[in-house]
Amino acid sequence: MTERDANMAHRHVLSLLDLTSSEVRRVLFLAAELKSKFKRGVRPSVLNGQVLALLFQKQSLRTRVSFESGIRHLGGSSLYLADDVGFGKREPTQDIATILGSYVDAIVFRGYRHQDCVDLAKFAPCPVINGLTDHSHPCQALADALTIMEAFVEETANQRPITVTYIGDGNNVARSLGEVCGHLGWRFRLASPAAYALEPEFYAQLSERFPQASFKAYTDPVAAATDAHVLYTDVWTSMGQEAERAERLVAFAPFQVNSKLLSIANPAAIFLHCLPAIRGEEVSADVIDGPHSRIYPQAENRMHAQKGLLYWLLHDRFCNEA
Ligand code: CP
Ligand code: NVA
Repeated sequence: MTERDANMAHRHVLSLLDLTSSEVRRVLFLAAELKSKFKRGVRPSVLNGQVLALLFQKQSLRTRVSFESGIRHLGGSSLYLADDVGFGKREPTQDIATILGSYVDAIVFRGYRHQDCVDLAKFAPCPVINGLTDHSHPCQALADALTIMEAFVEETANQRPITVTYIGDGNNVARSLGEVCGHLGWRFRLASPAAYALEPEFYAQLSERFPQASFKAYTDPVAAATDAHVLYTDVWTSMGQEAERAERLVAFAPFQVNSKLLSIANPAAIFLHCLPAIRGEEVSADVIDGPHSRIYPQAENRMHAQKGLLYWLLHDRFCNEA
């Protein structure tokens, strides 16, 4: 394969480590451009006729609707495929990936096992985007970064360090947030009970790939939250972990994001949550519904960020490299 063929080949987004830092910045730039156009009533039809399949094993509000609306704004259309496809039950992943990928231009997969997403990408003749697995949630992290950049315009424009503190479960959302912080040269801190930390190899991998950023694990939420620009949390029990809920409630009890924790962060700190949230568990109602919260712009940004991703993946790459 020549370098040009490689450039023209389809790309998968299984995690944000599949993109270079300049590609992540390009996607975020496109997202901001498309958002600004959208607010002015402009919807460029660059993906006219293109079809996006959403193959979902789990429930979704944000990921599903933001992708379905986003592709329509860009002139394309979407197909929502849930349990009726029989993914994992009716036929091998290889057959589903090969056939589905011959009908559509890209597949968004939301599932339990990350390996299923990897297998889909192995066989699909089109890009596969991870719409959440047990391993990561890259589309969420793109929207998170866009929201942080909007809140700290001067700092991000002048490449001043931003401290992003995630308090809670070292899960899919936390992992992708760490990755986007790496790409953007930010300081990522994660405070969790020791049993729910992200694996040390993950920190080692990020530190090696992104020497301009920093990554630190904590078991003390106070130390992690001190002077942070962003306080971020997610549910303590993710989809598929419902049987562990009682023990998780006990383990995570000291890790609630509340006004006391917020008071030691940077005075301009913002609160983020991927949603859905449980008020009174991982976050107190006064914080999530208070003046520092950016949860609704963050959720809206899912759509703008994914439009940037679709634009880059299915259009921009080919324009630039042709
Ligand atoms: N944050 C997020 O992915 O939301 P949904 O589960 O509603 O898609
Ligand atoms: N960690 C959560 C995120 C939901 C958007 C889950 O996987 O259920």
